[in-house]
Amino acid sequence: MGSIKEGNIQTALAYQSGFGNEFASEGLPGALPQGRNSPQRNPYGLYAEVLSGTAFTAPRAENQRTWLYKIQPSAMQSAFRRIDNRLLRSGPFTEAEPSPNRMRWDPLPVDDAPADFIDGLTTMAGSGEPAAQAGLAIHIYRANRSMSDRYFVNADGEMMLVPQSGELLVFAETGRLKVSPGEICVVPRGMKFKVELLSPAVRGYLCENYGAQFRLPELGPIGSNGLANPRDFLAPVAAWEEKAGRCELVTKYMGALWSAELSASPLDTVAWHGTCTAYKYDLSRFMAINTVSFDHCDPSIFTVMTSPSGQPGVANIDFVIFPPRWMVAEDTFRPPWFHRNYMSELMGLVRGVYDAKAEGFLPGGISLHNCMSAHGPDVTTFDNAVKAELKPHRIDNTLAFMFESRHVYRPTRYALECAQLQPGYDAVWDGFKRHFNGTP
Ligand SMILES: [Fe+2]
Repeated sequence: MGSIKEGNIQTALAYQSGFGNEFASEGLPGALPQGRNSPQRNPYGLYAEVLSGTAFTAPRAENQRTWLYKIQPSAMQSAFRRIDNRLLRSGPFTEAEPSPNRMRWDPLPVDDAPADFIDGLTTMAGSGEPAAQAGLAIHIYRANRSMSDRYFVNADGEMMLVPQSGELLVFAETGRLKVSPGEICVVPRGMKFKVELLSPAVRGYLCENYGAQFRLPELGPIGSNGLANPRDFLAPVAAWEEKAGRCELVTKYMGALWSAELSASPLDTVAWHGTCTAYKYDLSRFMAINTVSFDHCDPSIFTVMTSPSGQPGVANIDFVIFPPRWMVAEDTFRPPWFHRNYMSELMGLVRGVYDAKAEGFLPGGISLHNCMSAHGPDVTTFDNAVKAELKPHRIDNTLAFMFESRHVYRPTRYALECAQLQPGYDAVWDGFKRHFNGTP
C-alpha cells in the first residue's frame, strides 16, 4: 500500500470491510511488524502501543484490542487540567427529577457562534453512569468549524454518531471515515479522534454508550443473512497527519472534560492491526424484514446494533431504525400500535416523516417515551390508517431511529428548560372518538 500525500495527510481515503474483523493496514510498505506484535525495534522507528477495547480476558467473540504503530507514544503528554463542560452532561443524571411525561423536542438550531464538535455537544438525556459501565447519554452535536489542532478522546464510553445534517470527516487513530446523513459512525472508548466538517455546518445525534460495545444482534430463526450484514461495515485504512507543534487533547473522564497539551498530532498511526477500530455503516444497506401476512412486528425486527446489559435479551441499548420499506400487511392496522413498554424509547429523525406521527416530529428533533408511558399513533395517523385501502404501499424518503434502553432516560435540566421542548405534546393523543356502544 503506497503513501499518497494529501495536504499533510498521509494515505488516501479508503476502507476495509467487515464487522469485528482482525483488520490490518499499513500506510508505508513494511510498517506493520510481521509474525509478532512487539519486535525489539519496530520498522520506521515507530512506537508500538496497545489500545484494548475490552478486558484482556473477555471471551474471544467479543474481545477487542488493536496494536497501533505510532510516531510518538501516547504517554508523551502534559498533565490534564480541568476545563468547562459547557452543555455536556454525564451520568449519574441527577439534575432534574425524572418525569413520567411523554416529551418531544424540536431540532436545536446550529448556532452562529463558532463551535467545533466538542464545543457544541449538548446533552439531552441519559441514564446509568460511566463509573458503573452501564447506561448511556444522548447528545446533540452541532458544529460550524473543524477541529484542527484539537483532538478528543472519551474514556467514559464508545460513541455512535448519527449525522442528521452535513457531512463529516472523522479522523481517528485507525484512519479517516467520511460520514454522511444516512450513515452512522462508531468511535471506540479511548480512541483519539477529531471531527472535520465537509459542510459549512453540521448537526446530528451522538449516543455515548457506557456499557458493552455495540455489536450485531443474534439472528435466531432469521438465519445467517439479513438485517445489518457484517460486510457492509467499513473500517478505515491507516492514515496519519504530519503535524508538529502545540496540540490540545480533550478527554472526557468520569463525566468531566479535561485538557492536556501535546507537542504533535496524536493522529500519528502509520500502521495498525486488530479488532478495535472506528467504523461506519450505511443504513441504506440494512435488509429490513417485516410481515408478508398480517400484523405489525415488534420494532426489534429493525435492530441494527445492540449493546447487551448482561441479562439476555434486555439491552443496555438497542439501536433500531425505521427505514424506507414496503408495507403489505393484510387486514392490519399498519402504523405502530398503541403501547406501554418495559423498555424506554428515545427517538430521532434523520429525514422525512415517521409513520406514527403525521406532524410535529421534525428531522433533528427528539421524542422520549420512557418506561410504561402510554403512546402510539397520533389522531390523524390513526384516522387515516383505519380508513386506508390496504394496497402494497412503500414508505419512502424517511429515516427514523430509536435508542431503546432498559434504563429510564433522565432529561438534563437544559433539555427541560430549552425553548425546543414542545409544551403541548400530550395533545397529539387528544380527540380519539369513543366508538363503543355495546354492539360489535
Ligand atoms: Fe414506542
